[in-house]
Amino acid sequence: MAKSLFLEGTDGSGKSTQFALLKQYLESKQIEYEALREPGGSDYYEALRDFYLHAPHKHPAVSDALLSAAGRAANIEQTKKALKAGKWVITDRAYPSSYVYQAVQGLQLEDIIDINRHALQGFDYDIKILLDVTVETAAARMEETGSKKDHWESQGEAFFTTVRTKYLELAEKDGYIIIDASADIQTIHQKIIETLGI
Ligand code: TYD
Repeated sequence: MAKSLFLEGTDGSGKSTQFALLKQYLESKQIEYEALREPGGSDYYEALRDFYLHAPHKHPAVSDALLSAAGRAANIEQTKKALKAGKWVITDRAYPSSYVYQAVQGLQLEDIIDINRHALQGFDYDIKILLDVTVETAAARMEETGSKKDHWESQGEAFFTTVRTKYLELAEKDGYIIIDASADIQTIHQKIIETLGI
């Protein structure tokens, strides 16, 4: 049966590289799937992405939570449709990004969960993966790629230390599979594939 999966992790955890490898793997197995990402994915959320990442206007953290939840609602609808049609759904980031990043911005987790209840409507993913790396490794990887940093990636070390802690807390509480993302690319890829059960 088709399943849904999210990959989560801090900026610089190697998530996007692993996501690309996961897509290649599913293709090599001729498994039908839909790939989404957050912010973005569905046409609706994709239209919000640039604004979300680079909004130049001063705004409260709750606006970030509401905006991502608005986009997420469209992704969840698309996810449910795809699953019903027998397709796997994989997503590069999902609601946990909001539970972590908006909490680090100062919102209460209960409030973020409440906001997201409207978007998720009881939906949850079958396979939940956290790629965990130290802040130092993540920072070194972000330097390596050298791409222009968005608003989020420009935050300092303290921000990312808290992001990592919150991810680990959430992962423990909700039973995510935690993968040590400081390992080499192929090792991590293998571990991700093992979670698929196919
Ligand atoms: P992006 O560059 O797409 O992610 P990645 O680092 O995976 O390439 O940036 C997404 C940023 O947006 C990331 O720093 C986390 C943040 N974010 C939130 O704060 N809340 C959310 O709900 C989501 C989905 C992302």
